[in-house]
Amino acid sequence: MSRIGLIGGTGALGKAIARRLAKAGHEVTIGSRAAESAQAAAAEIGAAGGAANEDAAQGQDVVIVTVPYSAHASTLAQIKDKVGGAIVVDATVPLVPPKVMRVQLPAAGSAAAEAQAHLGEGVRLVSAFHSVAAHKLDHDGKVDCDVLVFSDDVEARKVVIGLCEDMELRGLAGGALVNAAAAEALTSILIYMNKNYGGDGAGIRFTGLTTAPALP
Ligand SMILES: NC(=O)c1ccc[n+]([C@@H]2O[C@H](COP(=O)([O-])OP(=O)(O)OC[C@H]3O[C@@H](n4cnc5c(N)ncnc54)[C@H](OP(=O)(O)O)[C@@H]3O)[C@@H](O)[C@H]2O)c1
Repeated sequence: MSRIGLIGGTGALGKAIARRLAKAGHEVTIGSRAAESAQAAAAEIGAAGGAANEDAAQGQDVVIVTVPYSAHASTLAQIKDKVGGAIVVDATVPLVPPKVMRVQLPAAGSAAAEAQAHLGEGVRLVSAFHSVAAHKLDHDGKVDCDVLVFSDDVEARKVVIGLCEDMELRGLAGGALVNAAAAEALTSILIYMNKNYGGDGAGIRFTGLTTAPALP
């Protein structure tokens, strides 16, 4: 069992991740700009509790950040001095409305690179969950797509792949944090595919990997 804080955990992705992690037996705290909203979301999904983002980031083994890109820098600044030795997982995709079907990565290369710069080199940063649609997680049962997990910290990456397994997802190591740019960019392509081919659940599944974790 891990202690896990979800920053922006009242939102579509954060709440869906929190629900699965709580169901798997982790001690999950939902974070929000408003503690009451966090507490309501926690009660709704059976998480251990809800708190203001700063408090939800403190005393955790893992902190997962699920906020819109427009709130990325300000949210990281708020939690920077709270996360301590926790593994920080960033799910942010640098979408720039209105052209969300165009890849528009930031000058630093990726939101993940920006996050590392904001939090400092000492923070164990992992980038993951970019290509799984929130609504596909927000129910019980299997999800037919893979989750790419990037980090320069191999042990932290393994921990997050383990959390994916707990969530009935297949997490796959995608290499160093710099590679997160590819998954962040892919999200715009998935949004385009949803529009072009209909539906709202485009995802990715890797083939030909003989020693990859088994499909859940
Ligand atoms: N939705 C998906 O399917 C999906 C899939 C993969 C990756 N992502 C990425 O994951 C991140 C979260 O996506 P989402 O769809 O869950 O977003 P969302 O529902 O729009 O927002 C998540 C939470 O962020 C907080 N928030 C919103 N505006 C804010 C602001 N200006 N300042 C601080 N906090 C703010 C809100 O919490 P409070 O109001 O409670 O503070 C909100 O509930 C995004 O970067 C997105 O690209 C999303």
